[in-house]
Amino acid sequence: MKEEREEGDEWEEDINTLPCNPYFLLVPFLLPPPKNMIHLQNIEKVYRTSTIETLALNNINLNIRKGEFVSIMGPSGCGKSTLLNVMGLLDEPSKGTVEIDGQAVTQYRDKELAKLRNQKIGFIFQSFHLINDLSVLDNVEIPLLYRSANGRPRQDYAKDALTKVGLSNRMKHFPKQLSGGQKQRVAIARAIVGNPDIILADEPTGNLDSAMGNEIMAILQQLNNDGATIVMVTHDEQMAKRTHRLVRLFDGTQVL
Ligand SMILES: Nc1ncnc2c1ncn2[C@@H]1O[C@H](COP(=O)(O)OP(=O)(O)OP(=O)(O)O)[C@@H](O)[C@H]1O
Ligand SMILES: [Mg+2]
Repeated sequence: MKEEREEGDEWEEDINTLPCNPYFLLVPFLLPPPKNMIHLQNIEKVYRTSTIETLALNNINLNIRKGEFVSIMGPSGCGKSTLLNVMGLLDEPSKGTVEIDGQAVTQYRDKELAKLRNQKIGFIFQSFHLINDLSVLDNVEIPLLYRSANGRPRQDYAKDALTKVGLSNRMKHFPKQLSGGQKQRVAIARAIVGNPDIILADEPTGNLDSAMGNEIMAILQQLNNDGATIVMVTHDEQMAKRTHRLVRLFDGTQVL
């Protein structure tokens, strides 16, 4: 049964749903900010060979928030790959701290680093790093070999990842039977097969023509929309413009 209303009640109810209501304006401030997925503090990386010492990264401080898509640009040799390798726990910094999803990894041993990397991070290498003697499907399954296999068979996950990148019709092929763009898509499928929170991509469109580069970029954008945090090294200003934020390096130092 409908309650009797007095004049004015309706107005009181309506004002609570108006976007100009001060409570609505407060909502963005009341929500917690997205958490840091990658947190780098005072990172320095020095490479030493018998003849030369190179300061590849110099006092880098960088926060990448959950759900961000960040691009890294800078001239050749300025430290982009080194920075990505440090974020991806593939290379240890000479100084400074790395936190991945809130976990400080400074004290971690190799085995713990490998476990965290396997659980959280998918890495797309510029030169694909596919194993030529293995089929496309077997290549994509590799990251799952390091996880305890439970539930669905590994092959099903690999097939799903290959379908996502539009390669379901190339599963039995071998890398040398694929075009550059297809190899890159296999590399992406291998990076995402374990459903990582973070995807690190080192010039994923660098070796491709612009049509294939756009396709790869569309796949990365879709993965980002699905929740992945992505850091991508690129030389292409147009690709960088399609990400949320640009970090520029020069001689190992962040200049933007
Ligand atoms: N393993 C290594 N040993 C010694 N020096 C290295 C090593 N890896 C990188 N460097 C040096 O560190 C610097 C940064 O290298 P890095 O590969 O990070 O550059 P980059 O910005 O990725 O360049 P590019 O755009 O050409 O890929 C370079 O001067 C390079 O010679
Ligand atoms: Mg590089």
